[in-house]
Amino acid sequence: MCGIIGYSGKVNGIPLILKGIKGLEYRGYDSFGIAFVDSNHLFVKKNAGKIDEIIEEFDMNSLKSNMGIAHTRWATHGKSIYKNAHPFMDCNENFAVVHNGIIENYMEIKKNLKGHKFKSETDSEVLVHMMEDYTREGLSLLQATKRILSEITGSSAFAFISLRDNKIIAAKNGSPLVFGIGKESFYISSDVPSLIDYTNRFIFMADGDIVQFSSKSYKIENVFKRVRHRIETINADGVRYEIGNFQHFMEKEIFDQFKIWESYKNLDLTIFEKVLVVLKEARRVYIIGSGSSYYASLYGAHIFRKAGLDALAIEPQELSDYVKILKKGDVFFIVSQSGETYDIISILKDLKDNAKIGLVNVMHSSLSRSVDIVIPMNAGTERAVAATKSMTTTVLTFIIVYSMLINDRTYKDIELLLNGRFNIYVPSVEKLVNRVSEMLSKTREIFIVARNEDYPLALEGALKLKEVSYINANAIDMATLKHGPLALITSESLVMAIVSPSNEKEASNNLEEIKSRGGYIIGISTNNMPEFSTYIRTVDAGIFYPLPIIFLFQLLSYKTAIRKGIDPDKPRNLAKSVTVK
Ligand code: F6R
Repeated sequence: MCGIIGYSGKVNGIPLILKGIKGLEYRGYDSFGIAFVDSNHLFVKKNAGKIDEIIEEFDMNSLKSNMGIAHTRWATHGKSIYKNAHPFMDCNENFAVVHNGIIENYMEIKKNLKGHKFKSETDSEVLVHMMEDYTREGLSLLQATKRILSEITGSSAFAFISLRDNKIIAAKNGSPLVFGIGKESFYISSDVPSLIDYTNRFIFMADGDIVQFSSKSYKIENVFKRVRHRIETINADGVRYEIGNFQHFMEKEIFDQFKIWESYKNLDLTIFEKVLVVLKEARRVYIIGSGSSYYASLYGAHIFRKAGLDALAIEPQELSDYVKILKKGDVFFIVSQSGETYDIISILKDLKDNAKIGLVNVMHSSLSRSVDIVIPMNAGTERAVAATKSMTTTVLTFIIVYSMLINDRTYKDIELLLNGRFNIYVPSVEKLVNRVSEMLSKTREIFIVARNEDYPLALEGALKLKEVSYINANAIDMATLKHGPLALITSESLVMAIVSPSNEKEASNNLEEIKSRGGYIIGISTNNMPEFSTYIRTVDAGIFYPLPIIFLFQLLSYKTAIRKGIDPDKPRNLAKSVTVK
């Protein structure tokens, strides 16, 4: 998971590269580096740490260059220290490389690269020494890149600057890469938004694509198959994204949900109608997602089953258990905010004979390009590491499909459903939310208990508290409590209970069990219950009842992170888009 960017053009590209790489920081943020050509010399400046600090350390804003590449890192091979930061140079300092992905066979390759001085512990560094050897053997830049692409295994996107050729050459296989076309300037990047201030014309590179460019021209070809490289024009307004008056992207994205309905105003139900046809004919519907997308899928599978479908939510890594029993009529409903999650993309090859519906937020992503029907997630850009509004719109999408399944609803009915919208949050509970977040900031462990369809919401709430507030939050199905976990409950225990109206009766007994063992229960519910020690009221949202609960946990984890001095946009060890195995 890392971000890469590159530029060659008529004007100084350093400001663009620095701004662009900041836009890619969500992909990894433990080290940063840039390679650029100035007065016929290749320079590399890099370090471990935050991009802004490193820019300042090297006074990068004063640099000038018409050609450069940069990298923001999320460590996989080798600690996050200076020597492991990209770019890497070859022994003669003719080439520099940045890489996103994992080279699975790098140890083997390294053994065969004789006489080179390796300076890092990374897998990526082999690329630049391979380039050095292959061009020394007489191969052109393109031939050497083709050979590299054929020899490395795993998923990768990489870019070289070649001083000798005065060019950048970049290749994609398994990790995202786009090529931007401007006026007397060309770009590569891991995503479109990082370049949208400079161009809106892109080629979405396919696996096997190699592009080489200077300020004058570019050439793109595919080494695996015949590909027609279309230049697509992107609506810049739909991609641009600013933090506004908020302190953090996570805060902005949480509060963006107040306006979530706006993106549903002109909901085009023709896509949903197509989806409905596919679902109704399915033998079985597998719903697949990772992390929050999986928890949303668990909820989706639950309500799809209620609507009479044979639906099962699984994580992508479980698919291998099912491959042998897959039948042609099985349909895959694949959920991914980024559309780039490696675990998801890597299973697509096993699903060639099955219909695939993708619920995706980032259009033009690998997933949206690989499925038969794409349902847009409609969340808008999400930059903070934690999924917030995308979780909400995923659940909302499942509810819309469910509602169509049970009622055969027409466009008008769904419109009515969405127009009867509710506030996602009761501002009057703000004081309580602050109090609970203070309690959370002082605890290392918490249990979140729920029953039935509330349980995926507990899993999601626990994930938010783990990843953003660093609390060991344990989601437990209330029905499972008595089969073991109850042993953990003491008078020291902090327990949050999610109880939706339909589960109140059953939950009451379970909560009694917790209470009688001294547990302190914070109730999250539309109705107060005698078992609650503290109660945060959530809005009664009818069929949309999960949304206010999801929102509340996001807000609590955000507020708790702030109290603990954690940067919620960049929690440790995480990145937004998980493009590695
Ligand atoms: C949690 C979170 C992650 C993602 C997961 C899947 O807040 O952000 O758990 O949900 O990595 O990502 P996508 O949906 O992009 O496939």
